Amino acid sequence: MRLKNCHNFHDFRRMARQRLPGPIFNYIDGAADDEVTLRRNTAAFDACDLVPNVLRGVTDVDLSVTVMGQKLAMPVYCSPTALQRLFHHQGERAVAAAAAKYGTMFGVSSLGTVSLEEARRISSGPQVYQFYFHKDRGLNRDMMTRAKEAGVQVMMLTVDSITGGNRERDKRTGFAIPFKLNLAGMAQFAIKPSWAIDYLTHESFKLPQLDRHVDMGGGVMSISRYFTEMLDPSMTWDDVAQMVRHWGGHFCLKGVMSVEDARRAVDIGCTGIVLSNHGGRQLDGSRTGFDQLAEIVDAVGDRIDVIMDGGVQRGTHVLKALSLGAKAVGVGRYYLFPLAAAGQAGVERALELMKIELERDMRLMGCTSVDQLTRENLRFR
Ligand code: LAC
Repeated sequence: MRLKNCHNFHDFRRMARQRLPGPIFNYIDGAADDEVTLRRNTAAFDACDLVPNVLRGVTDVDLSVTVMGQKLAMPVYCSPTALQRLFHHQGERAVAAAAAKYGTMFGVSSLGTVSLEEARRISSGPQVYQFYFHKDRGLNRDMMTRAKEAGVQVMMLTVDSITGGNRERDKRTGFAIPFKLNLAGMAQFAIKPSWAIDYLTHESFKLPQLDRHVDMGGGVMSISRYFTEMLDPSMTWDDVAQMVRHWGGHFCLKGVMSVEDARRAVDIGCTGIVLSNHGGRQLDGSRTGFDQLAEIVDAVGDRIDVIMDGGVQRGTHVLKALSLGAKAVGVGRYYLFPLAAAGQAGVERALELMKIELERDMRLMGCTSVDQLTRENLRFR
């Protein structure tokens, strides 16, 4: 399968599946428990239909939005995700460069495999730092300081991962960090030689956001164990309020789902919230960000930027979320499969296809700018 034959999410996913060893593909593709929420995330968009207007003169379409003070050339950004170097040797470098090319925001994770400083040098565009609140307060302080000094514009604290989701695919494959192979994994390695050559002929796997504080040499750890052992489940709103004050800039909570929490985020001075269930990877059976959008926008949309992620695979999914009042939409697997399939060229193609879809869909909707999308354009069945 070739990159030029990839026309949508499913094509990229197929190409990534061909290239990646099974344990790595399943780490990206999988989710918690029965993966009900994973499936719901995309299905939720089908519960409503777009209602276009015609004959409105739609020659020029402006896709730009402003979110948490950042001007994005399109309303879709690359959510921070972990361990990208495992998927392709260019890892976060590819995503930072592709996001810069398309004028959009991207994130570097606490579990990123390229340093946040290096990512900053690759893209001068808006960068999010995805923060996990560790038990080790020294590590938390150090990560904040580094992000500040590097010029990261938005701090994004993930609040839905204080313990690990039950990822049964990872249990079966033995997927762990730093990457190790069990016997079944070794067999996968041998049958995916292009991934193996790419992995072995480039720099070794690192976690540069953490390695000054966490000794990863002492053994391997599943992602779920990392969350459970390293992250602090005692974290409260008071801790976060303190972080927001300490950061002193745009601060966003990723994984807020209730109106009550959205109000609290406003109260402690956050400038954004991402309605998210972590790609269905944490609490299975939880509601989708899309399904929660309307009530949260109604409650706090005039005081904080409401963003959503989860299951977004199409330009029309994005337009539906924007019509309900989302300021921007995050994607994860949508760019990770292209990264795995073809590195930077893959991520660029995915963003290009998204941009083309958005422009076409906006024209077909009769809209020339994102602010023209309203609930009038949407009907639930
Ligand atoms: C995951 C984390 C690391 O979902 O974000 O695997």
